[in-house]
Amino acid sequence: MTSTDFPFIPYTQDSISEKEMIERSKSFYEKVDKRRSVRDFSDEPVSKEVMENIIMAASTAPSGAHKQPWTFCLISNASLKSKLRELAEEEEKKSYGGRMSDEWLKDLAPLGTDWVKEFIDIAPWIVVIMKRAYEFNEDGSKHNNYYVTESVGLAAGFFLLAVQNAGLVALTHTPSPMNFISKALNRPENERPFLLIPVGHPAKNAEVPSLTRKSKEEVIHYYE
Ligand SMILES: Cc1cc2nc3c(=O)[nH]c(=O)nc-3n(C[C@H](O)[C@H](O)[C@H](O)COP(=O)(O)O)c2cc1C
Repeated sequence: MTSTDFPFIPYTQDSISEKEMIERSKSFYEKVDKRRSVRDFSDEPVSKEVMENIIMAASTAPSGAHKQPWTFCLISNASLKSKLRELAEEEEKKSYGGRMSDEWLKDLAPLGTDWVKEFIDIAPWIVVIMKRAYEFNEDGSKHNNYYVTESVGLAAGFFLLAVQNAGLVALTHTPSPMNFISKALNRPENERPFLLIPVGHPAKNAEVPSLTRKSKEEVIHYYE
């Protein structure tokens, strides 16, 4: 029992056998291992209802002191998408044209990316995840949020898996620096752009870079 003046409710979860646990955890791993960042989108529409479900799944993520310090801007307006593309390309042209170090450009080479961000126009939805650095109280004073980057990072991870689960694809995009987004979307001063994520169906002949993920031995350090 927890000692607090605030209400608590029972937590219930179906218990499953060890065998089923192994099967489920393996099939989930196999499923998420198929997720890829896709840069070739089709313009095939996706319903707003699907996008709302995906966002609400993302918004179930844990957050520091349960502050849920995120806003998801859900954009389908064609002229706004074009504006975002234009502004993103302006920044990316500068980044690829000298702002990024040689080492960074070398690391990006296998991905085949450049400053052209056609997908912002083509994908039916652009989701901009904003992180909320703080909240405003009713009297206009500020109220802290906690572990904002960690919390919004988790929500973004949930978001990407929800996209995959819905049979769609996404690209985690960071047109850097991202301040132009706050202005273009007219966001309040307590919000900062975190990620710009096009969501939709893959183009018919979409390709992704052939990448290898780290092995179990590389990512797990055991203390038994
Ligand atoms: C924080 C973050 C920022 C990223 N920024 C970009 C980006 O600006 N442009 C891009 O094409 N991919 C971007 N990516 C996608 C990565 O390149 C991609 O996740 C990585 O190459 C692994 O590929 P996968 O997602 O298909 O497994 C970003 C990913 C993360 C997590």
